[in-house]
Amino acid sequence: MVRTETDVLVVGGGIIGLAVAWQTAQRGLSVAVLDPDPGHGAAQVAAGMLAPVTELQYGEEPLLRLGMASNARYAAFAAELEEVSGLSTGYRACGTLAVALDSDDRAELLELYAFHQRLGLDSTWLTGREARRLEPMLAPSVRGGLHVAEDHQVDGRRVGAALVAACRRAGVRLVPAAAARLTVRSDRATGAVADSGEEFTADQVVLAAGSRSHLLPGLPDGVLPPVRPVKGQVVRLRVPPVYAPFLSRNVRAVVRGCHIYLVPREDGELVIGATTEELGYDTTVTAGGVYELLRDAHELIPGITELPLVETGAGLRPGSPDNAPLLGPTALPGLVAATGHHRNGVLLTPVTGDLIAEYLATGRLPELAAPFLTSRFSRTPTLAQEVLR
Ligand code: GLY
Repeated sequence: MVRTETDVLVVGGGIIGLAVAWQTAQRGLSVAVLDPDPGHGAAQVAAGMLAPVTELQYGEEPLLRLGMASNARYAAFAAELEEVSGLSTGYRACGTLAVALDSDDRAELLELYAFHQRLGLDSTWLTGREARRLEPMLAPSVRGGLHVAEDHQVDGRRVGAALVAACRRAGVRLVPAAAARLTVRSDRATGAVADSGEEFTADQVVLAAGSRSHLLPGLPDGVLPPVRPVKGQVVRLRVPPVYAPFLSRNVRAVVRGCHIYLVPREDGELVIGATTEELGYDTTVTAGGVYELLRDAHELIPGITELPLVETGAGLRPGSPDNAPLLGPTALPGLVAATGHHRNGVLLTPVTGDLIAEYLATGRLPELAAPFLTSRFSRTPTLAQEVLR
């Protein structure tokens, strides 16, 4: 059997796994990534909104801190990635406008605004007229808005392609194969066997396999909590130059209880997302899913019906039991988690790369990651204190 040895083996080459690999290689460690199609995970479907403030939910303050740290890091991350890879990431510092359509939506948005104020976050309340002044395509029925100048966007597909190129340049070995099983010797993760039969050994193994992370054969019971697939369907339209600028920033809203967002890219693509469905590993695009997205988007911005429809798609968000990511060392020595990012995979890519690479290179995990250790789900939390700094 062919055997390859590196300091670090990353199982899963979505943008999280690739960012970890890239940052780790930059710290001088040898890295291999196992993935049949690197750069093509859930980010292929994501709209790429970088919106920790507008997507804030009660009880998720640690996630807000992590998201804001990653958002603050994004411009530099994207610039470095673009320079190294020679490819655009589609990063756009455009801000986000959340709007309300009826009085219930308005009450919900006002609650979010009050929560922002209590936390000292930067957001501005707008009347319907002020919101329409920012985005003239909004329906006359819009009742109010919340402008968050620092919630931006990036193109997940472009980030994936740029990370593949950056990893290659940094000497990361991208292995076009799936991990068939994790190898564990003397109660320690020691690598993985690929479905090609090749064996990879490493001092540390990073599990970054999205919604299939907990299904990796060989993973001992209880080491990783379940990471369930949460389906999201999206629709992509194109804004012909004659209609540009159709929207100048991300727009989101709750329409009769359904969350919807429109992300206008600089290249003319307009992504409308996303459904939230718990249906296992099904990625069928359904007439109902597309209908709901277009119906709600039309209520918000009637002019969308003039735009060419270019693509529909569905992907799987990896959701942990508390919907927050799983980061850092696990109860199995040698195995490090970088998964469970749920709705925030694109947003959390830079910070996940930084935190996990720091742990792999030094054995110390920055405090920012403390709330996201897998030990929060175990009855006997171990190792948390030893590795935090
Ligand atoms: N972050 C947006 C979504 O998951 O739909």
